Amino acid sequence: MTAKIIDGKSVAAQIRMELKAEVEELKRGGICPGIAVIMVGDDPASQMYVKMKEKAAQEIGLHSVLRLMPVGTTQEQLLQVIGEMNRDSNIHGFMVQLPLPEPLREKEVIEAIHPDKDVDCFHPYNVGRLLIGEAGVKPCTPLGCLTLLDRYGLEIEGKKAVVVGRSNIVGKPVATMLLHRNATVTICHSRTKDLATELRQADIVVAAVGQPQFITGEMVKPGAVVIDVGINRLPNGKVVGDVDLASASQVAAWITPVPGGVGPMTIAMLMKNTVEAAKNQCKG
Ligand code: GUN
Repeated sequence: MTAKIIDGKSVAAQIRMELKAEVEELKRGGICPGIAVIMVGDDPASQMYVKMKEKAAQEIGLHSVLRLMPVGTTQEQLLQVIGEMNRDSNIHGFMVQLPLPEPLREKEVIEAIHPDKDVDCFHPYNVGRLLIGEAGVKPCTPLGCLTLLDRYGLEIEGKKAVVVGRSNIVGKPVATMLLHRNATVTICHSRTKDLATELRQADIVVAAVGQPQFITGEMVKPGAVVIDVGINRLPNGKVVGDVDLASASQVAAWITPVPGGVGPMTIAMLMKNTVEAAKNQCKG
């Protein structure tokens, strides 16, 4: 079998187009959705992501603020800026790019963000709501994964889903969201005894381990849907996922490539969350 490609790049472009039209409509009603991205330090990968977010925000017509803070920024200075964003009525959603340079305290930073403006869905209040199935913001990468399945008409209900990775950003929330859609969900991780046996039962695989080409074709059930969240740079500079695309494509029915799969969806979902936050804050 040669898997069909789940083209995240084109779905993300389509969603940005839909959001652009929605933002134009909101602007006609006097609402201009605003996003701010705060970044501390000069990590090259983070700089690249932040620029991509700003570009997407501009493309769909959001009011966009990029707040770059130097290495050496103190916890108090960062909390001060978060306070400003919380109070700024032109900013409906904002995020602090992670990881933060040491010795900044990430947990305290996340908890300082007003939950209504938490477009990452990292605040414990929003994480708790997600877990109990209350309506509200959903984290961008997991939402991107489920949106890809939905846009390709790939069924979730009743399927056996195996999530590899248990991070707070991807593994745990994507497992939760698949569960809410009535999948039977298994979470695997570094201490899982027999990963291959678990994976071979999966109708849907979500790979979020952060290890290049870790999941190979022989671990995949014929006909499975494989969603690869990984972004890893090999020593030769090539960017690859957590799944070995060449061998897994021989076995799976559907697969996301890296790059061009989940990555662009994460940014599109951040834009979507911002538009939703603006609508929520301006209704009334
Ligand atoms: N660093 C890597 N991914 C993310 C993300 O989705 N949000 C934030 N705030 N930082 C990140």
